[in-house]
Amino acid sequence: MMTKSGPDEFAVRLKETGSAVEAMLERLLADAPLAGEIARPPRLVAAMRHGALAGGKRLRPFLTIETAKALGLGGEGPLRAGAAIELVHCYSLVHDDLPAMDDDDLRRGRPTVHKAFDEATAILAGDALLTLAFDAMGEAATHPDGAIRAALCVGLARAAGLGGMAGGQMLDLEAESAAAPLDSDAILRLQAMKTGALLHFSVDAGAIIAAAPPPARVALSRYGHALGAAFQIADDILDAEGDEATLGKRAGKDAGRNKATFVAALGLDGAKAARDRLVAEAEAALNETGLGDKVEILRAAARFVATRAS
Ligand code: IPE
Ligand code: IPE
Ligand code: MG
Ligand code: MG
Ligand code: MG
Repeated sequence: MMTKSGPDEFAVRLKETGSAVEAMLERLLADAPLAGEIARPPRLVAAMRHGALAGGKRLRPFLTIETAKALGLGGEGPLRAGAAIELVHCYSLVHDDLPAMDDDDLRRGRPTVHKAFDEATAILAGDALLTLAFDAMGEAATHPDGAIRAALCVGLARAAGLGGMAGGQMLDLEAESAAAPLDSDAILRLQAMKTGALLHFSVDAGAIIAAAPPPARVALSRYGHALGAAFQIADDILDAEGDEATLGKRAGKDAGRNKATFVAALGLDGAKAARDRLVAEAEAALNETGLGDKVEILRAAARFVATRAS
């Protein structure tokens, strides 16, 4: 018999939250301007919608929503917070795919934004997705307490910016032409920034919005950190082993671009061992949350990170 957080239950919950997130993103990316906006140029809205709607696992909002739920909070607040984080993620993908960065033409099974539109439009779509994220997070509907909303916005900024995702992307690009290959510790740090930070914050955001007691907050944060690290190693393994049709993006790009990955540093077996150690670390952290079987779905999420095919 399948346990309540077995693979089937996980897939169902991921799909359900994914639909709710999609609906929220649809609302946020509507044609009509919000109070304080002057107009929403149709071409820019279309490019943003191309980058943010239809496709994507929606794992980051899932983590926010399920973390908050494990702590007893459901409803629109965690959904908005998760959608805000997803907007930052979508922006990061639009820019990551640009010719000046990874130069990819396929994303989520469709042409990348700069292919479907043009480069300038893709840059602006990324910019506007990023700013829209802070709009969505900062709105009163996210949480009645302004201090909580401010903590969410500051946390998102730190995960996405100079010392987080954007900084990590800088290190990722620099490493392509480094004189000597990066060692595992340097790759771990680069990946903790470019990918780990936003996944880690997705869990922290759930803890912040649901006012987790400090011991649970610390353990959940350790979980988020380990899960984020495991996630990028799994992405690198999929780049080496996966196929384009399943991934919805081109495979085999990292080796061609001399990317600093665990696969390059340790080989496929070494990368898989590192990924599995981190998933075990994530699971061990959940045991320290004091939340009992309420975090079983998060345990399933950690396993999913390692076993996913896309
Ligand atoms: C892909 O992230 C980019 C990385 C950070 C490795 P996801 O694998 O979460 O992409 P989507 O959102 O499901 O398309
Ligand atoms: C992407 O890492 C990280 C961010 C978008 C911040 P990758 O460059 O490995 O992601 P994919 O493989 O293009 O999705
Ligand atoms: Mg990249
Ligand atoms: Mg890329
Ligand atoms: Mg990749």
